[in-house]
Amino acid sequence: MTREQWLKLTAVFGAGSLLPNTLVAQLLADAEIKRSDFGSDFVWGTATASYQIEGGWNEDGKGESNWDHFVHHTRKVDRHETGDIADDFYHRYEADIALMRQMNIPAFRFSLSWPRIVPTGSGAINQKGIDFYNRVIDSCLQKGIEPWITCYHWDMPQTLEAKGGWRNRDTLKRFEEYVGGCGKSFGDRVKNWMVLNEPLSYTVGGYLVGIHPPGVFGFKSFYKAVHTVTLSQAAGGRMLRDTVSKANIGTTYSCIPIYPWKDKPANIEAAKRVDVIANRLFIEPVLGMGYPVQDLPALKHVERYMQPGDEEQVKFNFDFIGLQNYTRWVIKNFPLLPMVHALNIKPKKLSTDLTEMGWEVYPEGMYRIIKQFAAYKDVKKIVLTESGAAFKDELVNGEINDVRRVKYLQDYLKQVLRAKNEGVNLGGYFIWSFMDNFEWAEGYRPTLGIVGIDYKTQQRTVKASGKWYSNFLSGK
Ligand code: NOJ
Repeated sequence: MTREQWLKLTAVFGAGSLLPNTLVAQLLADAEIKRSDFGSDFVWGTATASYQIEGGWNEDGKGESNWDHFVHHTRKVDRHETGDIADDFYHRYEADIALMRQMNIPAFRFSLSWPRIVPTGSGAINQKGIDFYNRVIDSCLQKGIEPWITCYHWDMPQTLEAKGGWRNRDTLKRFEEYVGGCGKSFGDRVKNWMVLNEPLSYTVGGYLVGIHPPGVFGFKSFYKAVHTVTLSQAAGGRMLRDTVSKANIGTTYSCIPIYPWKDKPANIEAAKRVDVIANRLFIEPVLGMGYPVQDLPALKHVERYMQPGDEEQVKFNFDFIGLQNYTRWVIKNFPLLPMVHALNIKPKKLSTDLTEMGWEVYPEGMYRIIKQFAAYKDVKKIVLTESGAAFKDELVNGEINDVRRVKYLQDYLKQVLRAKNEGVNLGGYFIWSFMDNFEWAEGYRPTLGIVGIDYKTQQRTVKASGKWYSNFLSGK
């Protein structure tokens, strides 16, 4: 580390805060990538989501969300943990945003809690919910941090979920009203918007395998939900276009590069079918290509829910597509015991380098999936709206020396740069997550933050990865 870099770091963390030796070694090893390699208009940030960090689940007029209901009335979350308090961001947002500032983080991606704004899903707006997000936005802007808002990161008013949630086409209208209201309330100051977060995760999790709310299991509910969600991403985009001047509008997808096991023809075919579900299902309709039925005939069941005019309604011209990649899948054809309806596959893990989520660490997959999405001619720009890893963290003498995460981030970033240098229009990178938080059905066990949380005291500890990111960001 140069003397200059060292001085910058001590300016951020205080002269007394000695960095762990391993981190120093790691930082030195990282001479290969610099912030400036990505260009001056590349956006750097960290990401979070309302239910995962806010807490304040029933405060100031907030309605019950589907997640509140799920954690309180089912036993499907590990150790029966809840997001009732989570990171208490609802009360601590000011200090958390100040910490982001100290860490040189230029952009903050967070989501709005729909039931905090529209408690029962239709009708009355909760002014205190609007006030809260106004405070968060203003706090970001005062500190020179650019807010990036996600309208839907999985928490909907329970009243709507009880009426069928995404299986009910009426939810589309409620969603449009909600998004339009958000645009009108915050669009004067917020220009970067994402309509949905990872539609595949909550349609599969909630309506196919039942590990997320509403906890339903079955293909019919999944197919129905898929179509309402597909309509909603485009309708939300249009609402933002109408209500926010000069908006930069995107939506985000979970994406997983799919590799066939040993390149055998049957495995290549199986991998193609999985790719349809994992990567193509939600983006192709929005681009005007329709559902990829040809490569996965089972999707005819989704088309059954289309009404006249829907082919047009599902299209929207997004300014950017948000990609979120955490791993890859290797697929083997497995006709005798279908693991996934109509897919007949058996996922295989090739590496022993797994995160606490059981996901294989495979940086090259990031490059591959970016290139796959960039190949769509109507994808104008790609932003990596989430990237990160769950590793076991340990607090020793006040420090969390998460060198595996530092290495993970560096290795993934190198692959992002590789794609960028080959001409992909890449606009930014957000680390998931700013701080440890409620990891859905897994509760608080997997930690993905670059800031650690002690849930007994709500004490924040900047991890070595947070220090590394801060140092990286302060570079030229
Ligand atoms: C994607 C989701 O958007 C986020 O909520 C989740 O915590 C991360 N993946 C990690 O699983």
